[in-house]
Amino acid sequence: MASVDVPVALLGYGTVGAAVNRLLNEQADDIERATGHRLRIVKALVRDLDKDRGFPAGSDVLTTSIDEILADPSITVVAEVMGGVEPAGGYVLDLLRAGKHVVTANKQLVARRGAELFEAASEGGVQLRFEASVCAAIPVIKVLRESLLVANVHRVLGIVNGTTNFMLTQMEVGSTYEEALAEAQRRGFAEADPTDDVTGADAAAKMAILATIAFNSRYELSDVDTIGIDRIDPLDVAAARELDMVIRLVGQARLVDGHVDVRVSPAFVDRHHPLAAVEGAFNAVMLQGDAIREITLEGPGAGGVETASAVIADMASVIGTMGTGFLKNDAVWRSLPRLAPGDATSPYYFHLSVDDRPGVLARVAEALAENSVSIARLRQHQNGEGRAALHVVTHEARQGALHAALETLAALDEVHRPPLPFPVVSDRGFGDFEWE
Ligand SMILES: NC(=O)c1ccc[n+]([C@@H]2O[C@H](COP(=O)([O-])OP(=O)(O)OC[C@H]3O[C@@H](n4cnc5c(N)ncnc54)[C@H](OP(=O)(O)O)[C@@H]3O)[C@@H](O)[C@H]2O)c1
Repeated sequence: MASVDVPVALLGYGTVGAAVNRLLNEQADDIERATGHRLRIVKALVRDLDKDRGFPAGSDVLTTSIDEILADPSITVVAEVMGGVEPAGGYVLDLLRAGKHVVTANKQLVARRGAELFEAASEGGVQLRFEASVCAAIPVIKVLRESLLVANVHRVLGIVNGTTNFMLTQMEVGSTYEEALAEAQRRGFAEADPTDDVTGADAAAKMAILATIAFNSRYELSDVDTIGIDRIDPLDVAAARELDMVIRLVGQARLVDGHVDVRVSPAFVDRHHPLAAVEGAFNAVMLQGDAIREITLEGPGAGGVETASAVIADMASVIGTMGTGFLKNDAVWRSLPRLAPGDATSPYYFHLSVDDRPGVLARVAEALAENSVSIARLRQHQNGEGRAALHVVTHEARQGALHAALETLAALDEVHRPPLPFPVVSDRGFGDFEWE
């Protein structure tokens, strides 16, 4: 088969962009053997032409003008690896409208402006691919869209943020939140500004994309009910350990009787559950469907080379499927209703700091029972200063009912701190849970 030279362009030549160029050079022969094409970067958009680059771009490749890429008819495939919602979003729209295929690693862009971008791709008759935007090297988009085409996936459960997973595993072995964050920054897992990671915004963008693909109905970042890890205290970590559980930032997308619920929050995860074994900066996504029961994909969810490998695989897929229409279109073909706020159900853990005196336990039990929340496990710890900590694990409860019960509890004079509920992720029945 004669090799075809394919000129491609990058928007951005930072950590990921330079890694894309390095892999394209180092593995040009492998790519050619697999696809019959040699991908060659002819233009890369940057802000600063004079910056030192990890893997240098060829001469005349770097440019500060998007027009040089837009106006070049030889460039048919562009990888957006610059990040941010603007100007990246405007550039991607212009490229799609100009009839160029786009591959992006930008979760915030896809999760916020997916509808508009896919419409432009469809009108331009081109592809928009985004494998690298969710969990970098883990091929979850491709698996959901291609391999599980008829699996009827109804639940996606994942640890999709490596920074917070690293921090939580550090807290398990005794670090405070602040120490865990400092260590994540020292090792390069957390940005100087870690807001998107610790507030759950990064995980929420990925879960919005996964829910959209899994259920073929659009979910945007603002549709995801999100709680970060910044309110977890050492008492929660200790309580999880006693329950033979670990705390993880868990993203969950569920299809319940034709209604969709997408959320991200710290959860108590049973130590025997596959997600509990995901340690450090790794990511994992568990897919449950009628035809497959359960599949778990695990691996590095970030990193320049890891992300670049997904970007290149998407570019190769685009080239291999150009003109066939396969996977060209938006995954969305229907609009499913959201599950009503408060109707999502889960077992929960929470703890209360209460006065250590007779009658308090009965008032707590009464507030829960009045809201149809039943207790599966309860444990009391005296702290010796007239206060006690009550640790509670509930049976499956409606989120709305739990919040109403917790509001009642927070208003009691004997309760000293608003309780923070954690959903519990476990395949075991609650009869098996014992405080050690
Ligand atoms: N790094 C990872 O581990 C990872 C993992 C998954 C996904 N991603 C995603 O991949 C994308 C790129 O990440 P990265 O780590 O490679 O970022 P980065 O190292 O900061 O690189 C960004 C590149 O984009 C260029 N750029 C930014 N704004 C620009 C503008 N307004 N005009 C022209 N050029 C601009 C920068 O130019 P200069 O070099 O001149 O400043 C730089 O070359 C992001 O969407 C990120 O979320 C990254």
